[in-house]
Amino acid sequence: DVGLNALAQRAGKLWFGTAADIPGTDETTDAAYLKILENPANFGEITPANAMKFMYTEPEQNVFNYTGGDYVLNLAERHGQRVRCHNLVWASQLSDFVNNGNWTKESLTAVMRNHIFHVVQHFGRRCYSWDVVNEALNGDGTFSSSIWYDTIGEDYFYLAFQYAQEALAEIHANDVKLYYNDYGIENPGTKADAVHNLVKELRKRDIRIDGIGLESHFEVGFTPSLQDQLSTKQGYIALGLDVAITELDVRFTQAPYYDAAGEKQQAQDYYTSVSSCIEAGPKCIGITVWDFDDKYSWVPYTFAGQGGADIYNATLQAKPAYYAIADAL
Ligand code: XIL
Repeated sequence: DVGLNALAQRAGKLWFGTAADIPGTDETTDAAYLKILENPANFGEITPANAMKFMYTEPEQNVFNYTGGDYVLNLAERHGQRVRCHNLVWASQLSDFVNNGNWTKESLTAVMRNHIFHVVQHFGRRCYSWDVVNEALNGDGTFSSSIWYDTIGEDYFYLAFQYAQEALAEIHANDVKLYYNDYGIENPGTKADAVHNLVKELRKRDIRIDGIGLESHFEVGFTPSLQDQLSTKQGYIALGLDVAITELDVRFTQAPYYDAAGEKQQAQDYYTSVSSCIEAGPKCIGITVWDFDDKYSWVPYTFAGQGGADIYNATLQAKPAYYAIADAL
């Protein structure tokens, strides 16, 4: 057992990474957890699960706090792990001043621009990439309601990428990649088609986008097929983009989470998603799981009664899913 990132790197092309909800949480001081997290043979990439989100980086208007983000970057850099910076513009986890403000299109656009410029320029090229806009679409491909969309209209989406591009250019960090990140865009359909249209519209406006983040939050037994996941990735790649699996987990929608048949199905589900990235070739540049362990998984907090979604159990033992990923890599 050489570690999943070591296997991924040996396969030649991609990293294997994880989200980590640090600092300020129990896992921040959990030695057994940190021992797994900080080993670059396990994870070649870390995504801050929360630390770089709007409510933490700009808690009050034009008052910035980079402590949490810097903490994640420092930890990752000590171990040669890269960081996908997450995220700049999203409907959720906004500061009160944004949610409660009385905005016009112009004034909220200025808030968005100011946030993007400060955060992007502070973290600079320590970020491998930015999720510039997160989860902008409904299942039917229309823009979902958010303070951004409701106040600014669809321009918010294009402007966010434009500002991120400009902020990076100003500090000569044009190699930091710009991503759109979402769920439900891992298989063919209306939502994936809508992502293609957003990319084309950005191109029409001469605004850069480098990649699509496929969150890949799946349920045991309901992971999209290898063929569907592969062809969808190939579709984004055909637009000239990189793709990454950014938030992979496979949750049980009800207990038990640890019986043999269930874990076998879950292992198969992980195998399918990882294989789709391998088969897509070198433009599928990495796979990130959203928490690696059931001890600290976000799932039970968000989906009542659901859990067991990760590749290590709640006592940090590798599950069958772990070994299935090793096989796929
Ligand atoms: C989740 C975090 O894991 C939780 O700790 C937090 O309470 C809510 O957000 N899609 C995303 C991530 O893009 O930012 C979300 O992270 C999970 C769903």
